Amino acid sequence: MSTATSARFEPAARLQGEIRPPADKSISHRAALLGAMAQTPVKVSGYLAAADTHSTLDAIRALGAAIATRPDGTMTITGVGLRGTRAPGRTIDVGNAGTLMRLLPGWLAAQEGRAFTLDGDDSIRRRPVDRIATPLAAMGARIEARDGRLPPFTVTGAPLHGIGYELPVASAQIKSAIALAALNARGRTTILEPAPSRDHTERMLAAAGAAVRRSGRELRIDPAPRDGLQVDAITVPGDPSSAAFAIAAALLVPGSHVVIRGASANWTRTGFVRIARRMGARIEGELETDPGDAIPRADPISDLEVRASELRGTVVASDEVPLAIDELPLVALLGCFAEGRTVVRGAQELRVKETDRIATVVEGLRALGAQIEATEDGFAVGGTGGLRGGAIASHGDHRLAMLGAVAGLASRAGVEVHGMDAAAVSYPGFEADLSALLK
Ligand code: S3P
Repeated sequence: MSTATSARFEPAARLQGEIRPPADKSISHRAALLGAMAQTPVKVSGYLAAADTHSTLDAIRALGAAIATRPDGTMTITGVGLRGTRAPGRTIDVGNAGTLMRLLPGWLAAQEGRAFTLDGDDSIRRRPVDRIATPLAAMGARIEARDGRLPPFTVTGAPLHGIGYELPVASAQIKSAIALAALNARGRTTILEPAPSRDHTERMLAAAGAAVRRSGRELRIDPAPRDGLQVDAITVPGDPSSAAFAIAAALLVPGSHVVIRGASANWTRTGFVRIARRMGARIEGELETDPGDAIPRADPISDLEVRASELRGTVVASDEVPLAIDELPLVALLGCFAEGRTVVRGAQELRVKETDRIATVVEGLRALGAQIEATEDGFAVGGTGGLRGGAIASHGDHRLAMLGAVAGLASRAGVEVHGMDAAAVSYPGFEADLSALLK
C-alpha cells in the first residue's frame, strides 16, 4: 500500500439509516475480463471504482481492449476476442488483486506464441499460483513461477486441450481460471468441486453463450461457440462482502437499525447472513436459495433490514466456509459479542488471503481484548458480550482495516486502525458510508 494512514473509531451511540454498498468486486473483475474476451462490445454498469478493479482495467487495456467511460459511470469495453490479445511488452501489474492474478492466466494460457509476466505488490508476492499453474499446465500451457509457486510468474500461451480436474480446495478463483481456459481448449473440460464456491463465472459465461452445465459438484465447460462470447450488457450488483461490515456494525451497536440496499443475494455469497441469523441476528430480507444444477444468468438483488441483536455462539463447518470466506473475520468479531463459543473450522484457506487472516484476525482482535485462539484451520472465540478496544494494524489488508473500524464502533473504548487506507482496495467510500449511519 501507499502511505499508511491511521483512523480512530469511537464507540457509537447507534447506527441508523440506509446504505448502498459499493459494486461487487468479484463480478467487476469478471465483467472486465469477459468484456475483453468478448466478440462484440459489452456495456458494463456499476463497475466497482476501487484499487483492485482498476488493476483489472489496466490489465485488459495492456492486452488490447478499449474502455470508453461515460459521465454516468457506465463503460463500454471493446475486447479483442478469445484469442486476440496483444503481447503487452511489459509486466502486467495486478497490484493487490488475487482474483485478477488467478483468473487472467486462464485466458492468457491459450494465446499461442505470446508470453505474459504477472506481478503485484508485497502481499501478492506471498500468494500461491501453483494452484492455477498445475491445471493450466495439464491443459497444455507453460507457467514458470518464482520458486515454482509464487509471483512474479510467466504464462506462455499454447494450444490447450480439455481436462478432468478435481479441485484440491473449494476455490472460485481456481475454478474460474480453468473455466476461462476451457473456452479456448479442444474438447470438454470438467471440474469437480469439493464444495460449492461463488459461481459468478459460470453464471456470466452461460449468459454470454458458452456451454456450461452443472451436475452436482461437477461443472462441464465446452469450447466457446465459433462466434465467440456475446453479451450486450452486464450490471454489477452491490457487494455482499462489503455490505457485511455495515451489517455487523448494525448488529453489534445497541439500538441500531440499518437497511442495506441493492446487494447481491446470490446464495454462494450470502453464507455470512445465514451464519449471523443462526447466531440470533435480526436480518430481514430474502436471499436466493441454492438453485441446484440450474445456472442462473445473473445475481438476484435484495434489500436487507438489520437490527441490533443479542447473539449466541455457533460452529461454522467446512462446507459453509467457501460461501462466507471473506466474511469469516466478521464472524470472529460477532463471536466476541455473543454468548458462548464461536468456532470456525475448515478455513485453512484464510492463511493465503491478502494476509494470513487466521493470524492477523486473532492477533488483531486479541489486542482489542478478545478471547480468541488460532487453530490450524480456523479460530475459536470465547464470547464475553463485548470488546474493550485499543489499536489494530491492517497489515495492508482491506478487510482487516474495516474489521477494526467496526470493532471500534461496537467497543467500549474505541479502536485506532493503523493502515486504514487499505480499505480502498475494495471499498474507497467505507469511512464516509459508515459515518453517514452514525446518529
Ligand atoms: C474470489 C474468490 C475467493 C475470495 C476472493 C474472491 C473470486 O478466493 O476469497 O476474495 O472472486 O473468485 P478463493 O477462490 O481463493 O477462495
